Amino acid sequence: MSATGDLANLQKEFEQQASAVVGREAWDALRIAWVGRKQGKLKDLMARMKDIPPEERRDYGQAVNRLKTTVEQRIQALDVELEAKEKAASRTVTALDVTLPGRKPSLGTLHPITLVARQIESIFAELGYSVAEGPEIEDDYHNFEALNFPPDHPARETQDTLFLERAQADDGTLGPKLLLRTHTSPVQIRTMLGREKPPIRVICPGRVYRNDNDLRHSPMFHQVEGLAIAEGLTFGDMKGTLDAFCKRLFSADTDIRLRPSFFPFTEPSAEVDVTCAACKGKGCATCSDTGWMEILGCGMVDPRVLEGCGIDPDRYSGYAFGLGIDRVAMNRYNIPNIRVLFENDERLLRQVRT
Ligand code: DAH
Repeated sequence: MSATGDLANLQKEFEQQASAVVGREAWDALRIAWVGRKQGKLKDLMARMKDIPPEERRDYGQAVNRLKTTVEQRIQALDVELEAKEKAASRTVTALDVTLPGRKPSLGTLHPITLVARQIESIFAELGYSVAEGPEIEDDYHNFEALNFPPDHPARETQDTLFLERAQADDGTLGPKLLLRTHTSPVQIRTMLGREKPPIRVICPGRVYRNDNDLRHSPMFHQVEGLAIAEGLTFGDMKGTLDAFCKRLFSADTDIRLRPSFFPFTEPSAEVDVTCAACKGKGCATCSDTGWMEILGCGMVDPRVLEGCGIDPDRYSGYAFGLGIDRVAMNRYNIPNIRVLFENDERLLRQVRT
């Protein structure tokens, strides 16, 4: 058979293969087999030119070119066809089914910490307290010294302080020694040193930081500090205020009890327990069978602290208290692990939605 006759067979073979193409993969295989740059069949035909007798070369050349055009056009036409099919398919998948029920937007909720903090703020607002805030990055003076923690005193160790690296200027001088505040008590100092003059009644909610990490402790947690300064304030005033506060925060049948304690900035100092909310004082796993839950520290502001802040301790007295917000939230919403509060799991919000 002549070389040109071979071409006719080749064309038939191509037609057969082309009409069997149904998808993109088969189309790709066809394209590579026929017009592929490396081993396409058409390329071989051109290479065979030199073996064709000179008198047939012209016809052969023309026939190869015709075949080439046919093949290329068909492959291109198939491409267009496939593309149209692909587009139609993707339209079907994303088409909007207007009969489907709508998706419900999920409702947001305030975080348990925010809920408890706001409740505490509103209880104290009714008692005439205003809200003060201070920086989370503090210096040694406000976090410790002015609160009567002497340098190198072991009381500082109870705070598990996280210190910040000191900045260094080009000439080597070190910037101030800074730390993440370990409690909200430095806001007391800032309030007294600031414009506020007695009588003072503030609460200071905020984040605090300690190098402490287990089921009940997180390196970042929340406290509310309270401070009241006036002429003639007594330990009894403090006890009455805290009793009223706890009854509002938990329930009217909540009792408090005070146990002697020590804080450098208060004298005398006490720790306050409330009736366990889970068992109403009977004793359960939550309160380790004691019937009580420890919730805050308090005391009469040490005269040295008042004096350091320019308040005359012979004329004024005051009380202060500090309370952990996270503890109250964990208790109220039955959260066994403090980390749950900071994981951003939406299920927690669903659980606290009332
Ligand atoms: N700052 C204390 C702490 O974080 C809590 C505290 C105790 C604050 C007694 C007070 C107070 O104002 O009087 O451990």
